[in-house]
Amino acid sequence: MSARKIIIDTDPGQDDAVAILLALASPEEIDVLGISAVAGNVPLSLTAKNARIVCELAGKSDVKVFAGCERPMGRVLVTAEHVHGETGLNGPVLPDPEMPLQDMHGVDFIIETLRAHEAGTVTLCPLGPLTNIATAFEKAPDIIEKVQEIVLMGGAYFEVGNITPAAEFNIYVDPQAADIVFKSGVPIVVMPLDVTHKALVTKSRNDAFRALGTKAGVAVAEMTDFFERFDREKYGSEGAPLHDPCVTAYLINPDLFTGRHINVEIETQSELTMGMTVADWWGVTDRKPNALFIGDVDADGFFGLLTERLARL
Ligand code: BDR
Ligand code: CA
Repeated sequence: MSARKIIIDTDPGQDDAVAILLALASPEEIDVLGISAVAGNVPLSLTAKNARIVCELAGKSDVKVFAGCERPMGRVLVTAEHVHGETGLNGPVLPDPEMPLQDMHGVDFIIETLRAHEAGTVTLCPLGPLTNIATAFEKAPDIIEKVQEIVLMGGAYFEVGNITPAAEFNIYVDPQAADIVFKSGVPIVVMPLDVTHKALVTKSRNDAFRALGTKAGVAVAEMTDFFERFDREKYGSEGAPLHDPCVTAYLINPDLFTGRHINVEIETQSELTMGMTVADWWGVTDRKPNALFIGDVDADGFFGLLTERLARL
């Protein structure tokens, strides 16, 4: 089978960084057509820089990185330095990137790339707020049929919220964009907090990254060292949740994950529950299923895959 063509849309973020490293280490399964950065965990200038730092860490400075939208569609940007640190990639000391940022706007990159491909042949992998993807769909509705699938990290049902009591960060930052994407008709696979909170970097998993002894392995260990303090304090969990790598791991081995094909809608009106993913997990409505909502992961299989692939970089 040929490698699946993807666009990674991202707001790095340590967990975004690991997701990108996993994709770039897996050319047999994943062909990264380019990376679009979006404002999210930190402002756009930093996410566009961090995406290039990560490509260089992977030894792939030929990957094209584009800066997309600097603010959500209809709301003020909310960032997450309290989780990721002021650079978004706190933890390891990594050099500033030498590779250039592309001139084209990230949204135009998404549009042009999809237009250049046959219908149903490009997968979109959003790892941050959905602003770039929704803006591209609004600007060029003809591209929607070009998308094979959207595999995204966002939302929650059983875990409910991490940025508000009701909402997960990526969806909360741009609920209007999420609403457009979930109503687009494109097949969607959702990695909510319900599954990502099961992909925890325990001490032995972190030791395995560090023991690779490579730049990438040590950097990932240092990133998760930094990133874990937040979830340990908040949830008392065993380590950092690797939210975004669930997306790229799914592309490599979907059998690691299980979920339900259900209806998911986004709350865009109520300030109290803004950005909530109203997921009909129990099938209590007759609303049409629009997403495969993942609920569980073979965590040992996931970390085995990740460590094996990071060893290649
Ligand atoms: C999501 O928000 C960000 O902080 C992470 O990078 C992940 O994409 C988790 O809620
Ligand atoms: Ca992210």
